[in-house]
Amino acid sequence: MGVAFSVKDVYFKYPSSREDTIKGISFDVHEGEIFGLLGPSGAGKSTTQKILIKLLENYRGTIEYFGKDLKSLDNSFYEEIGVGFEVPVHFSKLTALENMEFFSGFYKKTADIQELMERVGLWEYRDVKVGEYSKGMKVRLNFVRAMLNNPRVLFLDEVTNGLDPRNAMIIKEMIAEYRDKGGTVFLSTHLMNDVEQLCDRIAFCVDGRLVEISTPRDLKLKYGKREVKVEYRENGTIASAVFPLDGIGFNDEFLELLKSGKIETIHTGETSMEEIFIIVTGVELK
Ligand SMILES: Nc1ncnc2c1ncn2[C@@H]1O[C@H](COP(=O)(O)OP(=O)(O)O)[C@@H](O)[C@H]1O
Ligand SMILES: [Mg+2]
Repeated sequence: MGVAFSVKDVYFKYPSSREDTIKGISFDVHEGEIFGLLGPSGAGKSTTQKILIKLLENYRGTIEYFGKDLKSLDNSFYEEIGVGFEVPVHFSKLTALENMEFFSGFYKKTADIQELMERVGLWEYRDVKVGEYSKGMKVRLNFVRAMLNNPRVLFLDEVTNGLDPRNAMIIKEMIAEYRDKGGTVFLSTHLMNDVEQLCDRIAFCVDGRLVEISTPRDLKLKYGKREVKVEYRENGTIASAVFPLDGIGFNDEFLELLKSGKIETIHTGETSMEEIFIIVTGVELK
């Protein structure tokens, strides 16, 4: 697998601000993976995405897109990437279908609009003006828009924000399918569920810096508690006990409980990504 984006020591300052918003970040996004940028609001996630899609150009440091300097690329770059912005941008006086047909018209290679709109449950509302859409419908349409050109790399900023769990699940399934077919995803979010269920690798972003880059599994192993929690029923009530994971096969008390048939649940002491984030960064996700 190649490297889709290689980012080295990138700094960025908005003209109107005194300090750098991005303070020296380095990471690779591998082809075929879902790379998640996780962090509290104001950390610099959307700014990072805007730099990667060439919307903010005067950064310092180097960024390569499949081995080529990002700054050297012409507009054909936009044929290859799909972008979901944090705030959906549509023409509110046009219908959803008219919007998608309009945006689709910019591209040489296009996806099947009907198929995408059906998947996210919007095809039956295709002739409704976007101005009359609910927030969740706009978010789903925003995702369809990002997929319109069958992109090689998909950028998604807060892609499930404002969606109910069922619609969030549908979008996440579509993202995973896109990855499974070889697509590359750069996803930024402050929502734990997005990264935990979806991302192959996660970078923690705080105040313009990246703190830790790892896989969800390695993070859980590194920061998780090595213990087993057992819930069992005794005299009609639920009791619980915690055992160290090390040497558990020789722990008589645990083995007795296991044989007793009273156990209702067993869990290893997994730490949630949210807890890990707070441990690593000392900052709460908001
Ligand atoms: N156009 C802008 N001009 C000046 N400052 C900005 C601009 N856009 C964002 N910022 C500031 O940059 C910081 C990072 O913002 P952003 O990248 O949107 O964070 P996130 O997406 O992680 O919430 C914030 O402090 C924000 O106020
Ligand atoms: Mg943002």
